Amino acid sequence: MLKVENLARYFGGIKAVDGIDFDIHRGEILGLIGPNGSGKSTTVNLIAGLYAPTTGRVTYEGQDIQSLLPHERANLGIARTFQNIRLFGQLSVWQNLWAARVVRETGWSGLKERWFSTASQGKLETESYLEFCGLQHKRDQLAANLAFGEQRRLELARAAISGAPLLLLDEPAAGMNSEEIDDLDQRIRKLRDQGKTIMLIEHHMELVMGVCDRVVVLNFGRKIAEGKPEQVQQDPQVQAAYLGSDSDDDFMQAALQA
Ligand SMILES: Nc1ncnc2c1ncn2[C@@H]1O[C@H](COP(=O)(O)OP(=O)(O)OP(=O)(O)O)[C@@H](O)[C@H]1O
Ligand SMILES: [Mg+2]
Repeated sequence: MLKVENLARYFGGIKAVDGIDFDIHRGEILGLIGPNGSGKSTTVNLIAGLYAPTTGRVTYEGQDIQSLLPHERANLGIARTFQNIRLFGQLSVWQNLWAARVVRETGWSGLKERWFSTASQGKLETESYLEFCGLQHKRDQLAANLAFGEQRRLELARAAISGAPLLLLDEPAAGMNSEEIDDLDQRIRKLRDQGKTIMLIEHHMELVMGVCDRVVVLNFGRKIAEGKPEQVQQDPQVQAAYLGSDSDDDFMQAALQA
């Protein structure tokens, strides 16, 4: 579905991503993990088109998407969430979802027109995603006033309602408690069952190892391992990368030491 080839991005002397190759297969949940600063978010930004690569290319469904802007890539079918949440804070929960759905159908140009219309188009589907993220009781609250975990849930639902078949999720569990992470696990599986393909960046190893079909591991901008969760967990290079880092990957360290 998506192919990354020899992809690199340097920031001055920092090789944030340094020549990586991997594929995302249709219908799978692919984990992208690695210690802090290993290049995960940069990889998402390269795929989503926020950064231009220093070298290499990204193809989506066989099409080289290098010349496409971020919103063009989104229209093509690549949606993402941000490590630092980006919602419309001054819109309500419901409006955040509804707006993402309208943009899917009409583009940004249709949003203003629909905003002032009383037609019920799309409202049912918006309700179903409101239920998906479990925020029915907060539907009229401003997104900015939600608790952190709720904002992450809303952002996930907003990416899903955009209709894109490929979702890039950058640390959707950050700041969540274990109960919320269990719920997230179920939501991610539900999206996959609905036919979405997912790339999941996460530090919570229980979640990654439980939900992912395959995992790619980065360290210092390079790919050091790729395979089934249990394979990469056993990989000595992966263990060394995590144990050697002074990162906050407590879950990984605990998982490896168990
Ligand atoms: N815009 C930028 N300008 C300069 N350096 C950057 C920029 N973005 C990322 N970097 C650097 O590139 C490296 C990789 O960063 P990146 O955010 O991709 O890591 P990450 O794996 O997502 O880390 P984390 O787990 O902490 O989110 C880091 O050393 C970071 O400081
Ligand atoms: Mg990151």
